[in-house]
Amino acid sequence: MAPNTTERTYIMVKPDGVDRGLVGEILSRFEKRGFKLIAAKLALPSKEHLEEHYADLKERPFFPGLIRYMLGGPVFCMVFEGLDAVKTGRAMLGATNPLASAPGTIRGDFALATGRNICHGSDSVENAEKEIALWFPEGTLQYKLSQAAVIYE
Ligand code: PPS
Repeated sequence: MAPNTTERTYIMVKPDGVDRGLVGEILSRFEKRGFKLIAAKLALPSKEHLEEHYADLKERPFFPGLIRYMLGGPVFCMVFEGLDAVKTGRAMLGATNPLASAPGTIRGDFALATGRNICHGSDSVENAEKEIALWFPEGTLQYKLSQAAVIYE
């Protein structure tokens, strides 16, 4: 069976990542890995929008603090497509708690605290599709990358 090279994941640089000038670094890591960028924008989401994004966590004690943190400034929203995009994206981010993240991962290289962990990545294919619909109601782009043939067998 041909590998599924069209799996999509939602990656978001959080306000601390934008403030620290890490948008280019994070985007670049995904591009260089071989993932295809199919949507990107800077956004200032409302409280309601963030509460919907994090709806599964609304009973957690850290929820109010998480929403306050995410309201602290713009976020940079991206959709990447490629083989095992969700799982590989999470591996590239590193563990939720940056202190447990391996060096070489985004959080392992740039963060120290769970509540300031600079980047979000979808945790399942199903959630990725929900998040992409929430953050990009306008849709994503379809186009061919000229180097696809040198990335996949
Ligand atoms: S869970 O449900 O406990 O497994 O949560 P987890 O997958 O580890 O994290 C879900 C998201 O909540 C964020 N998080 C926190 N934010 C602020 N403070 C604390 N203490 C905290 N703990 C977890 C975590 O970064 C995840 O958000 P994303 O956007 O996916 O990084």
